[in-house]
Amino acid sequence: MGYHHILTWSTPEYLNLYPPRQNTDYRGQREKHDCKTVSIFGSTGTIGQKAFSIASSNNFEIVAIIGNRNYRCLIEQVLKCLPKYVCVSDDASFKIVRDALSGARKRIEVVPNSELVNVASIDVDCCVMAMSGIAALGPTFACLGHAKNLAIATKEVIISGGQYLMNQAHEKKTKIIPVDSEHSAIYQCLEEGNPDAINQIILTASGGPFLGRTEDDLDNVTIDEALAHPNWKMGKKVTIDSATMINKAIEMIEASILFDIPITKIKPLIHRESIIHGMICFVDGTFKAVLSSPDMSIPISFAMNYPNRNPLNTDRIDFYDLGSLTFTKPKQWQSRNMGLAYSVMDSRKVIAFNVANEMAVQSFLDGRIRFSEIYEYIVRILDKAEPENVNSYEDIVRIINNIPLS
Ligand SMILES: NC(=O)c1ccc[n+]([C@@H]2O[C@H](COP(=O)([O-])OP(=O)(O)OC[C@H]3O[C@@H](n4cnc5c(N)ncnc54)[C@H](OP(=O)(O)O)[C@@H]3O)[C@@H](O)[C@H]2O)c1
Repeated sequence: MGYHHILTWSTPEYLNLYPPRQNTDYRGQREKHDCKTVSIFGSTGTIGQKAFSIASSNNFEIVAIIGNRNYRCLIEQVLKCLPKYVCVSDDASFKIVRDALSGARKRIEVVPNSELVNVASIDVDCCVMAMSGIAALGPTFACLGHAKNLAIATKEVIISGGQYLMNQAHEKKTKIIPVDSEHSAIYQCLEEGNPDAINQIILTASGGPFLGRTEDDLDNVTIDEALAHPNWKMGKKVTIDSATMINKAIEMIEASILFDIPITKIKPLIHRESIIHGMICFVDGTFKAVLSSPDMSIPISFAMNYPNRNPLNTDRIDFYDLGSLTFTKPKQWQSRNMGLAYSVMDSRKVIAFNVANEMAVQSFLDGRIRFSEIYEYIVRILDKAEPENVNSYEDIVRIINNIPLS
């Protein structure tokens, strides 16, 4: 099978790697206000819309919103919050948004994809990164040093940026606060703790729509079945990742990077109800866990308001109603897919793993491969990929561009 068409996918253009333009000064534009300033990348997505709603009903000034194709939602958001900047990556949608806002009462800069990294380098209190996939790599690196806090949902960027991303954030004094519910849970468990006292990190997994299925039952699953997640409403890519449980492999790597813990100390646990999000087992046998209703508004609000907590009108757990919590042993195919986390960390092929998975998911959504072929698709690319050494941003881009796709 040939996957050459996807090569265009990893070109610098796709990755938004335009160098910041010298003649466009977006810096130092933050105004003095009592409220926190925020930019929301992927404001039209599942996470982004929740972040937008939290920001607009709380003490935030929304400085910039960024989207791709959903121009209707972008225009609605602009009319609600009148940001200074709107960046629209998709060309046709950019023109629609620009024309629609040409008569707006406040001057709003509507800018195309080539300005994405410049918009990311506006000084803000909080940058919410909720663009899906590796396209978020450029703006994520660009916001370091300009955002005080980076509330990051885009796991593909955390795993591809790896320790280099964490070091850069530390050096440039941008605090990374995870949005993913499992990592938010671990972050909260660890807040005043000593990482040396960790014996194990446990990330829970709902098991997705195919929890009870054997591998043979997966051959003919449809795209709609794979997109029907029992607990979470999410974008298509992450929903398919949840169905394959490769999402958990990605999250295990994400946890290893965020908390600087060896991958061998990170374990998945299938917990259907998605009430416990993450647990730490300490060296003395104590477990600490974070529980909440499965509602992404909670970790998003935690990350955006950090170090404070804002009241949120979410469902509270009623333990009598709940009755019990369950934990299920994974099937062989589920363990194999989640186990990719250990093998790609061990072989240093995490970036290749991420790109191969993004391509496999897209191929499945386009109807070019079956659900049950996703794992082999990834392994075929991994077999040909070289071990990765990342010491710079350019290294990451070079590795992505050199992944043997066919
Ligand atoms: N949803 C969840 O519960 C959840 C939980 C944890 C982590 N995450 C992670 O959060 C990220 C977003 O997930 P999601 O579920 O919100 O995805 P989603 O609903 O598919 O939204 C993706 C967002 O990214 C925008 N986007 C995509 N490509 C872009 C580009 N080239 N330039 C600018 N904007 C672009 C989309 O714009 P348009 O809609 O305008 O095209 C949309 O706003 C993913 O990395 C996911 O793994 C999600």
